[in-house]
Amino acid sequence: MDKPICNKSLEDNVLIGKNIIVGICGGIAAYKTPHLVRLLKKRGANVRVALTEGGARFVSELALATVSQEPVYRTMFPPANTAGTDYTRHISLGEWADALIIAPATANTLAKLSAGLCDDMLSAFFITLRPGKPVLIFPAMDGQMFLSPSVQRNMATLAAQGCTIISPESGELASGQCGLGRMPEPDAIVNSLEKALHYGGKSSPLYDKSVVITAGPTREKIDGVRFISNYSSGKMGFAIARDAAKRGARVTLITGPVNLETPFGVSRIDVESAAEMHEASRKFFTSCDLFIGAAAVSDYRPASPYEGKLKKNDRELQLTLVQNPDILAEFGMQKASGQLAIGFALETQTGLDKAREKLATKNLDLIAFNFFDRLTSGFEVDTNILTLIERDGVTTELPQLTKDAAAARLLDAIEQLCPKTGINP
Ligand code: PMT
Repeated sequence: MDKPICNKSLEDNVLIGKNIIVGICGGIAAYKTPHLVRLLKKRGANVRVALTEGGARFVSELALATVSQEPVYRTMFPPANTAGTDYTRHISLGEWADALIIAPATANTLAKLSAGLCDDMLSAFFITLRPGKPVLIFPAMDGQMFLSPSVQRNMATLAAQGCTIISPESGELASGQCGLGRMPEPDAIVNSLEKALHYGGKSSPLYDKSVVITAGPTREKIDGVRFISNYSSGKMGFAIARDAAKRGARVTLITGPVNLETPFGVSRIDVESAAEMHEASRKFFTSCDLFIGAAAVSDYRPASPYEGKLKKNDRELQLTLVQNPDILAEFGMQKASGQLAIGFALETQTGLDKAREKLATKNLDLIAFNFFDRLTSGFEVDTNILTLIERDGVTTELPQLTKDAAAARLLDAIEQLCPKTGINP
């Protein structure tokens, strides 16, 4: 049997020792579930499978028992007079679980769970699961079925109960048609579970939200070998990306040149100049829920960078600089209701008013005034001193914190804004 994979940092191995129930319903995507169970086991989880009668038509109980190394749970009623049978296992196993995944979830099971029916082991586990434990539901069915009012209503009921419903993907369906309805691949399901567990099972308003973060410096070419830049290390932006991913957000990190590892679960886009950062960012302007500008973007760039290497001579050299586009201001101005724009303002001690001015002119929902001294706060160092200023004037002064802790406090404040601005918790 496979040994747990431990090649990520300990913090990232949230599945080690976790008890996971995988509920499998009757859809063609069930054929992928032995692989899902195997991936969970490889990450160190203890896995028990609840298979519905429909599920058993698509995937073999023997395969699931073999990969999970546990009996598969199906019927509520074990044969009478069976010595050693645990007659209350539907309760004890619900209590045992740290999380429940239902993949694929059919229209029938969604209806049963939303109505509180309890006639097989999967629905029993669902009802007996401890409050606060993550339930991740992956509906997979024909696109028309998925969009039908009854399926949508049942999913809304389950979401209101705190379940996380992960939309199916588009692609080729069993019917031969193309459209919405495919179950995500097993590694994506594992990824979603890891994110949910990272956040302690608590449901964050940022869960499954699209968050775009800019980080690091930009480089503006003077010639083929020289550039204008600044001291930004990217640490602050990367810390925000790491924490947002832990809260279950889908994070895109657009970063200038830095020497940092990509945080777990984050999708990274490397750019060099402000123009490249602008172009990469614009692709997400209409689709993201949250845009956070933590990058130190050069306000100016040389008007006409020299192709080769500028040669030294006796005369003065004058560089003409032209303004770069203001990425965050552009997003702030065109964001739709429900989208949030968050910025930073790196200023010296007296810069609070300047930060407030940037909040207003860039039409932001929150700005982090970043005190700058290069010893305890600002560029390169591992700590930061932020003052969070909200649109309605509410101001929260944070003490000197590590950049990780400052990122967490910033995201806590953003979570508080979500209900006010339309990102649904
Ligand atoms: O990377 P580190 O070494 O960890 O340092 C972190 C940091 C100090 C760079 C970071 O915490 C920070 O304060 N970033 C903003 C730096 C800044 O001075 O921004 P600004 O005042 O020039 O711009 C205000 C806001 O508009 C920022 O959110 C910025 O990302 C954004 N902006 C600015 C100019 C521009 N052309 N496009 C932008 O999007």
